[in-house]
Amino acid sequence: MTKSRLVIQVEEFARTNCELAEGTGLWTHTKLVRQFALELARIEGADSQVLVIAALLHDIGKRIGQENHSVWSYDLSKVFLESVDLPQTTKERILECVLKHSSRFSLEDNNIEVKVIQSADVLATLCDEPWQEHYRTTMPKEEILQLFDRAMKKITLESARRLAEPQIAKLKALLIQ
Ligand SMILES: [Fe+2]
Repeated sequence: MTKSRLVIQVEEFARTNCELAEGTGLWTHTKLVRQFALELARIEGADSQVLVIAALLHDIGKRIGQENHSVWSYDLSKVFLESVDLPQTTKERILECVLKHSSRFSLEDNNIEVKVIQSADVLATLCDEPWQEHYRTTMPKEEILQLFDRAMKKITLESARRLAEPQIAKLKALLIQ
């Protein structure tokens, strides 16, 4: 797939910001979120342009701090998007995805793009091998199992659940080895 100039511009901005959140593997995570967001967009018929850009921007606020990072991501993205050539309505839909990607919004009646970004965020975390390995070596088993429960609650799309379930089964099997 040829990337548009716009996507390259967003990618450069997002990468720079992600790399400022040192030692978190944030850029790797971000690329995985984009991959799952595109896959789910295709299955669900959601807007892939909104989702690619939202996926790239969703965690940039972590350069400021983990807590409330979705609000920081929203603020940084809002300023950045002012310099980008996109219709205002598209910018607003991207910003809504960025703000609502965190689990505290997962119980709301969200639009399909918000549901996709929430689910893609969970799938990316579940499929990030070094990240999961880090959990297994630093966290008690019970806490990891609770994380899996919370992860499944954040997924509100059946299509994403079908991708997450076998991955969680695989991770649980690794826990009891
Ligand atoms: Fe994320």
